[in-house]
Amino acid sequence: MRRPIQQLPETLANQIAAGEVVDRPASVVKELTENALDAGASSLRLELTGAGLVNLILTDNGGGIPKDELPLAISRHATSKIASTEDLFNINTFGFRGEALPSIASVSRLKLTSRPEGQDEAWCINSQAELSPAAHPKGTRIEVADLFYATPARRKFLKSVRSEALAIEAVLKNLILAHPHVQITVLEDGAETWHVPAAQGDFFQSHATRLGPVLGDEFAKNALPVFAEKPALGMALHGFISGPTLHSGNATKQFLFVNGRPIKDRSLQAALKNAYGDKLPAGRHPMAVLFLTVPTDAVDVNVHPAKSEVRFHQPSELYGLVFAAVHQALSQTLRPVMQAPDNTPAFTHSQSPFTDLQEQQFSYAPNPITAPSFQPAYQPSFTAPIPTAPSYNPDFQLPPQKLLKGDEEQAQPQAEHPLGAALGQVANTYIVAENNHGALVVVDQHAAHERLVYENLKSQFTEGRIAAQHLLLPVIVSCTPAEAQLLLAHAEELQKFGLELESYSPSAVAITAIPQLLGHADPVPLVRDLTQDLQSLTPRTTLNSRLEHVLATIACHHSIRAHRRLSLAEQNALLRQMEATPASLTCNHGRPTVVSLSLAELEKLFARR
Ligand SMILES: Nc1ncnc2c1ncn2[C@@H]1O[C@H](COP(=O)(O)OP(=O)(O)OP(=O)(O)O)[C@@H](O)[C@H]1O
Ligand SMILES: [Mg+2]
Repeated sequence: MRRPIQQLPETLANQIAAGEVVDRPASVVKELTENALDAGASSLRLELTGAGLVNLILTDNGGGIPKDELPLAISRHATSKIASTEDLFNINTFGFRGEALPSIASVSRLKLTSRPEGQDEAWCINSQAELSPAAHPKGTRIEVADLFYATPARRKFLKSVRSEALAIEAVLKNLILAHPHVQITVLEDGAETWHVPAAQGDFFQSHATRLGPVLGDEFAKNALPVFAEKPALGMALHGFISGPTLHSGNATKQFLFVNGRPIKDRSLQAALKNAYGDKLPAGRHPMAVLFLTVPTDAVDVNVHPAKSEVRFHQPSELYGLVFAAVHQALSQTLRPVMQAPDNTPAFTHSQSPFTDLQEQQFSYAPNPITAPSFQPAYQPSFTAPIPTAPSYNPDFQLPPQKLLKGDEEQAQPQAEHPLGAALGQVANTYIVAENNHGALVVVDQHAAHERLVYENLKSQFTEGRIAAQHLLLPVIVSCTPAEAQLLLAHAEELQKFGLELESYSPSAVAITAIPQLLGHADPVPLVRDLTQDLQSLTPRTTLNSRLEHVLATIACHHSIRAHRRLSLAEQNALLRQMEATPASLTCNHGRPTVVSLSLAELEKLFARR
């Protein structure tokens, strides 16, 4: 039996819209807080009971709604934010669809009380559009009780109170990060869970105050500021990223905003991740808070009812902007995070243990609370540019410099050497040095050398191919037939790395050449490790990460091991090579290779300051 076509009742139409706009308490929090921000509020107070399912109240001190517009505020397709098609493509408010309040009102018991600027009375309207006088200071208070009572089916789809509370927390984190000039207070079941006062200062100063509450103190203290712009396109990127030694097991600590609006965008997330390249350990994710500014007509926000996805007119320009800015910040600031002993205050950027190093020839990160100087040198390609490693000798032959004449001379720290002069080794594993600012420098010899070899191989690889050394007698590696096949299938690829393999028998391969850098090292363990690497690479592994894997394996095999005694001359040679290769300040696994304590920090440790 066919039903006749008929207009849906307004409440039903609103409930259908609510299915897209408000699917859980967290989306109510998002819609209401965005309305308050659009109304120019500088203070928000959110009270939640039962993760907002029992009661959810938002009070703001924004511009308010006049009495005669209150019925419109809860009517569908009524908005004060846009008026024409042209406006739709130039949106500079969070809301514009005129759907949120009617949707919420259709699935809950809503009460909206508002007093506009300059008026001395407040009015209240409820879900049934009944008006009544009320008492309220300037601003708006919206109370949402019994959310989804009107659509019990929706209520059934909700997760536990705990997961709804977590989803609300995710919305609040975005809000707190993006609006440092707004005071935000949140009470959950009567207890205050967030209170962030309004911050002062410029972009970096004000936003820096919100990093700790949301991402933790370690990120806040060590975050690297990021800034880049493409003025001709009206695009800019401001933000903060974690250094290579601080990372997370998933991407939930990455916050991306476009014109202040929190969004999800796979391509920009990939730009961020790719800019770290091999500076992060495999499977780890950077932490970041990035704010993109783009002209309002270059982004379409009307793609998704909840506005969490947007479409860009020039996505590749934005990819380039994010990649270049992050890459630039990292290449200037590769330096380890150092933990202070428990009883001393943790180092902050302003009292960084690297202060003395920073003044030297490396260009390190600027203090995060001042805007970093913008370097317009964009990398046109999206593959990580490889730092041109200076020519260096992996076997620690002394560089022909007069200051490396003898061990005694080494003890004198040289002004131009930020890593200083070696004093000796600890546990035959760590090189201890002093620079001429009195800073104590400690280097992990294996990790540092591994990074140096890796960078050297990488530059050889990009310049052509890695120099091979042919073996007089092939070395035979026995393996399973499957492993032999796998190795031989990659023989052509491995040849570019200076490793030549031939079939020997079904269960053995012959190594006929090895990378020159390996010297007299036994190539068998290298080939065994490479077999494992090749097994773990899926066909979807990008070329770049295959390359990084293979180089890292070779580098690891060649590097001087921990527990090896080095002469002072060898120690100094390593320090000089590290200075010439800024990327060597972290090892291939993202761990620091060098840590340092300034004289001031040392004095503090001994209570001399
Ligand atoms: N807290 C508030 N303070 C002042 N005015 C408000 C507030 N909340 C809502 N309004 C007014 O009510 C109108 C309707 O709000 P609603 O959220 O339903 O739609 P919108 O914000 O215009 O668009 P969207 O559906 O995209 O959020 C807004 O356009 C605004 O004028
Ligand atoms: Mg709105």
